[in-house]
Amino acid sequence: MPRKVNYGPDYDDNYDEYDYGYEVDENETPPQKETIKHSVWRCSICTYDNDETMSSCDICGVLHGPLLNNSIYDKKRTANIFDLKSSRVSSTVVGRDEAVKVSSMRSDSSNQSTEKGKHNRLDEINILKNIEVGPPAGSRTSDNCSASVQEGWLGHVDESSVAVNLRSSGKSSLSLMPKERNVMVDDSSSSRNGGEANSLTSNLENISFAAKSRHSNDAKPGRAISRAQYKPEKWMLPEKAEHSLTQLNLAIVGHVDSGKSTLSGRLLHLLGRISQKEMHKYEKEAKLQGKGSFAYAWALDESAEERERGITMTVAVAYFDSKRYHVVVLDSPGHKDFVPNMITGATQADASILVIDASIGSFEAGMDGTKGQTREHAQLIRSFGVDQLIVAVNKMDAVDYSKERFDLIISQLGAFLRSCGFKDSSVSWIPLSAVENQNLVSAPSDFRLSWYLGPNLLDAIDSFQPPTREFSKPLIMPICDVIKSPSQGQVSACGKLEAGAVRSGSKVLVMPSATIATVRSLERDSQACPIGRAGDNIAVSLNGIDGNHVMAGGVLCHPDFPIAFAKHLELKVLVLDGATPILIGSQLEFHIHHAKEAARVARISFLLDSKTGKVVKKAPRCILAKQSAVVEVILQEAVCVEEFSKCKVLGRVFLRTLGRTVAVGIVTRIVEEQQ
Ligand code: GTP
Ligand code: MG
Repeated sequence: MPRKVNYGPDYDDNYDEYDYGYEVDENETPPQKETIKHSVWRCSICTYDNDETMSSCDICGVLHGPLLNNSIYDKKRTANIFDLKSSRVSSTVVGRDEAVKVSSMRSDSSNQSTEKGKHNRLDEINILKNIEVGPPAGSRTSDNCSASVQEGWLGHVDESSVAVNLRSSGKSSLSLMPKERNVMVDDSSSSRNGGEANSLTSNLENISFAAKSRHSNDAKPGRAISRAQYKPEKWMLPEKAEHSLTQLNLAIVGHVDSGKSTLSGRLLHLLGRISQKEMHKYEKEAKLQGKGSFAYAWALDESAEERERGITMTVAVAYFDSKRYHVVVLDSPGHKDFVPNMITGATQADASILVIDASIGSFEAGMDGTKGQTREHAQLIRSFGVDQLIVAVNKMDAVDYSKERFDLIISQLGAFLRSCGFKDSSVSWIPLSAVENQNLVSAPSDFRLSWYLGPNLLDAIDSFQPPTREFSKPLIMPICDVIKSPSQGQVSACGKLEAGAVRSGSKVLVMPSATIATVRSLERDSQACPIGRAGDNIAVSLNGIDGNHVMAGGVLCHPDFPIAFAKHLELKVLVLDGATPILIGSQLEFHIHHAKEAARVARISFLLDSKTGKVVKKAPRCILAKQSAVVEVILQEAVCVEEFSKCKVLGRVFLRTLGRTVAVGIVTRIVEEQQ
């Protein structure tokens, strides 16, 4: 069953290789002096001292300097050896017996909000003025100033992109409402699907409620307790034999029409997830509509519009088991209009397959700086923390399985991937043909591919390093979807458990309403499960809470470890190549985990030397492309947030304007927390 997601406006960034050189104002006295060791270079973003041989930061992936080596990619790299390190998992609930899609209200993912949407926003702001909100925020002095952030961001940045506007717009904000979650969903009352009035009202209610409940006994703010001091109970930790297969969330990304859905469908069919009977049905239906070549894609592209247009519009979720992993396939749309939807899948990924169309002209189109999505997708997934990548060079049949073509693609794309922060050792290159079933789950049978001696696609997937999970940390689950069934009085929060564990009867703190609820039951893969642990995509059915107080963009957390709710933040940002400069007063879209909010740049504190992390200028007036800086932003409404050093997933941000991403960054300090 398809479930879909659309997030925010699309954008079409031209990500070129980063070059961090920029002018230093000679007249300014750097307020900070640092000694840089001769053999290391300091990452300007995370301040990690990298060996001088590293072209990008070992921690966060930020490039040291302009791309140094565009030479032919080392051909030995066709074998895949992956680095350790990892990330997180998916967030959408995945059906065990069928492909599901993350659904969305806004299938057009239009670039701008509608006029009506704007009016809603204005109305909302006006109403907000009349709402009694809690006392002025207390200042929270961070124990982590910007310079102390030890973990990176670029290359991991945008956890946030799955943007759901907490406060703004019922209509124009993203909708994660599953289209066909027929069992539990009551469309008429969904918080997301329920129409703007409903959404607006409920959001406003949430605000006033949040303000009140902050002072109620329900929530027990325990911020004094450090997350490091948390001691998990025994049941929270997985027993070794309990799960034989680790879940691996695999985002399938790439330029439009590169064959992502066909590849996914073919893989599912080969692995027995799609029966012969179902396949015949797809073939027959596709032929009838004159789209015979899309038969495998139809297994994933289930909506009439997708089939008619022959493109994926929303993320399809399916799964299969490999030798090592329970693989959750997140088949993303490639069309540029649906980049925000692609982001949804990518933010959930532990690893990714970047699908390339090897055909003459098509690879080149994907690499086009302004129109191609190959570069953009690669950049985005790296920004979300994905550092393990398979490049599936598809449609090799269209180029006669030419080794020369494959090598050319490796040399051109390999250079770009390095510039994004992917390590050569974490990228494997697999030539294949989804349509002709070459090199998917067994060695190629076509003699024209006999020159290739590396692993097939399935083996390459099994070579991914298992993702690390934060089992023994306090619970954190950013909410990406809410399912309500008022008739049964049920509300479920869906998302990926980023840290900790829950089970029936657990008390959870629902942010930002700061209300304690009790877990009534859990579902994973559309089946009841007793315990959800870090890495699981679950639906958490809650008792003891008004459905209006559970919203996408919120977070379920441990009652003793409430996460912050703030709108005045200090960020360390990198303005992307080709992006418009950021000025004091710039109005931007601020994205963080599943939330987005309007933001104003209140202050540009320092311009940083991207190579050394040294402050090179105090209080500059603007940040130009490829420059990094410490800025303060004030959001229109508060969001659930944590400093990146404390919680990566709640501390990665990206800034957009006019449908384009202009900067990626991390939260270095919560300047003022809402009380
Ligand atoms: P979007 O989701 O819209 O970005 O497209 P996609 O990347 O999912 O591509 P899709 O699977 O829909 O395939 C697009 C076209 O490419 C279809 O006509 C497929 O039959 C064709 N195609 C996919 N794989 C191959 C392949 O290995 N060889 C050839 N020759 N064509 C292929
Ligand atoms: Mg597709």
